[in-house]
Amino acid sequence: MIELCSVSKYYTSGFFKQKQTYAVRDVSFSIRKGDTLGLVGESGSGKSTIGRMALRLTEPSAGRIVFDGIDLLAQKKPALREIRPRMQIVFQDPDTALDPRFPIGESVAEPLAVWHRAFRHEREDRVAALFEMVGLQPELAGRRPFELSGGQKQRAAIARAIALEPEFLVLDEPTAALDLSVQAQILSLIQVLKKRMNLTILFISHNLAVVERMSDSLAVLHKGVLVESGRTAEVLEHPQDLFTRQLVDAANGSYPFFRNRIISVNE
Ligand SMILES: Nc1ncnc2c1ncn2[C@@H]1O[C@H](COP(=O)(O)OP(=O)(O)OP(=O)(O)O)[C@@H](O)[C@H]1O
Ligand SMILES: [Mg+2]
Repeated sequence: MIELCSVSKYYTSGFFKQKQTYAVRDVSFSIRKGDTLGLVGESGSGKSTIGRMALRLTEPSAGRIVFDGIDLLAQKKPALREIRPRMQIVFQDPDTALDPRFPIGESVAEPLAVWHRAFRHEREDRVAALFEMVGLQPELAGRRPFELSGGQKQRAAIARAIALEPEFLVLDEPTAALDLSVQAQILSLIQVLKKRMNLTILFISHNLAVVERMSDSLAVLHKGVLVESGRTAEVLEHPQDLFTRQLVDAANGSYPFFRNRIISVNE
């Protein structure tokens, strides 16, 4: 469904732009349709940069990205615009997706209007259906973001992201800002939506417990380089790379958190 081939991103700095710093170097992976790939790594390792490049929200410095057989980097603006609705992103902070001035119902309806996906009179029904899908009471549609809890806001941000029925979703630490019980609810919601909509997901997190629960396969990023990847259980049980081993040990060190708290919390 989505494939990254030797993708790099560097930033230039200095007066003559003479200095190059790599945020991401030579990263390759692919995600099959309907699968979830977990991307883990320390802060600053380049996770968000990869997530944004996968959707071409950030332009890679080198490499190739193939989405459903389409060479994404070769597409000109109009063609890219056609593809955009098929891929969406959810950020850690729902406030980046929700305009504070508008009721959340409008924020959820906006993509439908912009992409002409529903006539005005149909939009209300579509929004109600989306609210139902993400577990938000319909009466919350009139509230503005500051009148909602973090969990409710993230549900609204997810509703907006799935409004155009995307096939590929990048989730960039979608629960990192939420407390544990809410985190578990949102993770369950994502799993339900994934099944219902047959979503392909790039799930970014620095929390191994979360990634273990959510992903079929796992890619470990360290200082912008992919150091290990494979089936999730395989990587976590037999980590080959030293950095992965350190991550797993650190996660096991906080044992109750890693094994029990997140993984066994079901709605
Ligand atoms: N616009 C930019 N200009 C220069 N450097 C940047 C820019 N954007 C990101 N970087 C650098 O790229 C590197 C990777 O950043 P990125 O945000 O992808 O990391 P991350 O793994 O998502 O971190 P976190 O877990 O904290 O979210 C960092 O060193 C960052 O400073
Ligand atoms: Mg990030």
